[in-house]
Amino acid sequence: MNIVVGVTGGIAAYKVVQLVRLLVKDGHEVHVVPTADALRFVGAPTWEAISRHPVTTSVHDDVARVRHVALGQEADLVVVAPATANTIATMAAGLADDLLGTTLLATAAPVVVAPAMHTEMWRHAATQANVRTLLTRGVRVIGPDSGQLTGDDSGPGRMTEPELIHAEVGRVLAARCDARGLRFVVSAGGTREPIDPVRYIGNRSSGKQGVAVAVAAADRGAEVTLVVAHADEATLALAAAHPRIGVHRADTAAELSETLRGLAPAADVIVMAAAVADYRVAEASDRKLTKETSNGVPPAITLVENEDILAGLVERRAEGQMVVGFAAETPEAGESLAERGVRKRRRKGVDLLAVNEVGWSTGFEQVDNALTIIDARDEVVASVAGTKREVADALVDAVLAIR
Ligand SMILES: Cc1cc2nc3c(=O)[nH]c(=O)nc-3n(C[C@H](O)[C@H](O)[C@H](O)COP(=O)(O)O)c2cc1C
Repeated sequence: MNIVVGVTGGIAAYKVVQLVRLLVKDGHEVHVVPTADALRFVGAPTWEAISRHPVTTSVHDDVARVRHVALGQEADLVVVAPATANTIATMAAGLADDLLGTTLLATAAPVVVAPAMHTEMWRHAATQANVRTLLTRGVRVIGPDSGQLTGDDSGPGRMTEPELIHAEVGRVLAARCDARGLRFVVSAGGTREPIDPVRYIGNRSSGKQGVAVAVAAADRGAEVTLVVAHADEATLALAAAHPRIGVHRADTAAELSETLRGLAPAADVIVMAAAVADYRVAEASDRKLTKETSNGVPPAITLVENEDILAGLVERRAEGQMVVGFAAETPEAGESLAERGVRKRRRKGVDLLAVNEVGWSTGFEQVDNALTIIDARDEVVASVAGTKREVADALVDAVLAIR
């Protein structure tokens, strides 16, 4: 495998020599890309000798190979260790003023970051916000650990030991391929049911969880078709840029149903994460409803039930195909989320049901999520909380464990 090791300007750079050594020993092609500051801590000759490849910080070297993007394009994984507060901020902002910056922007490979800095720098709101940005983009952040720092002080901020970063790199590389050969169809976002040409009945789904599932499966080698109703456009851009994700758009529940009906037969796994309206307006008005035309009587809106898309997918499920449902549940007194989930899973007949608790301030639109995953034996196979990407990875784990 091709691994890029980005090294930035912290004392812990010397420990990364050991990480590079371990990766080379595994048989990987390792390209070290230091920042200019990193070279003040450990010099280029060390990195070149240990990685057996030339080392530069500049986008202007080896221009004939278009090295500033080639390294990222060809990488199977990029690890940044140690990652300074400055480089984490640079990554969050998407800056590309050196070879490490351009490499990180040019890569579609998984990125692992091992922060190292003083506790105050780590705890600063700016650093925390930048780390969250990276997490929502699917970057794996390992550490920092707590312990002795550069000076006499100690606390959170110490880079995770190179052996542990090496083990994490191994796990990410293994996971990168474990969904290869599978075709996923994932729905995401909230449908909109028109009332008139300018109004609709919608819901608060941002599509973030469904998009995270699509990206997680694609990062792990699956070919993914994402069917998106209305979703946060910045989140969707992450999926649209992925080389293994194709995106289809749908507006209403009926459109979503039709698109999924066409795509489902070719899928190995269908993940129904879209928030589909249970009801639509019986007769949407062709003209905008106004106070003038209603003569002071508010218009009555009659709703009719939409088709149960998930039930239809289960009914038409092809041989060997897995159907995964999502259920957004508000808690009820005297019944746990898992109990509600089990009842729903049986009713829907899905292979896996991912249940998340929603309320006025939980679930929808949030960066984090918590899921209880129930399998066809009505067992809770995972209860996970974390970023939507972390939760998505746990769901893909559950799918692959069954397959
Ligand atoms: C001795 C020394 C140790 C440093 N250690 C760290 C560190 O562990 N983490 C960090 O974020 N910055 C550290 N810095 C500050 C960075 O080197 C500085 O912010 C630099 O601009 C980082 O550049 P880079 O991210 O491009 O490598 C250290 C500076 C010095 C002089």
